[in-house]
Amino acid sequence: MARRILAGRLDVRDKVVADFGAGSGVVAIAAKMAGAKRVFACDIDATCRELTQLNAAFNQVDVEVVSSLDEVQCALDLVVASDVLYEAANLRFLDMMLGVCADVLVADSRLKSMPDKRFRYIDRVYTTSFPDYQEALENNEVRFYRSQWPPSGSVAEAKET
Ligand SMILES: C[S@@+](CC[C@H](N)C(=O)[O-])C[C@H]1O[C@@H](n2cnc3c(N)ncnc32)[C@H](O)[C@@H]1O
Repeated sequence: MARRILAGRLDVRDKVVADFGAGSGVVAIAAKMAGAKRVFACDIDATCRELTQLNAAFNQVDVEVVSSLDEVQCALDLVVASDVLYEAANLRFLDMMLGVCADVLVADSRLKSMPDKRFRYIDRVYTTSFPDYQEALENNEVRFYRSQWPPSGSVAEAKET
């Protein structure tokens, strides 16, 4: 997801973006670097929120850290979520994200088909963890699912995918 953003294949310019399940903040930081107006990094885990703040400061970008999407007090243009649907119970996160924003983009290496019909499969990439933990090969395929496709108003994205 971070690579997609930095390569301009996901247009975040001037958008208000939330990264749900932000972890260390890599996607949130990429979004801010790529020109997002505001970025909220949402994670339930306090250590992740602290790491995101440290990583954002190290990369000299401003990322706002929250523990729940409900804490975001302004309108969101886009919610992104990477590697948060690793178990079936987490599919409820899709409702949480769509509850705050119509445009949600999910990247996931475990979810090989999307049971939630509000999302469309749009793309896949092959990658590894870094360092490479030699996970099962099938986990190297990351699939992207988006609730709004084609994206409204982004000619660049529509051409790329
Ligand atoms: C596998 S990590 C992915 C981190 C990051 N998106 C990435 O790709 O590097 C999943 C993250 O989701 C967070 N998470 C789990 N449940 C959550 C919830 N209900 N709300 C917000 N974050 C949650 C975890 O704390 C963890 O940081």
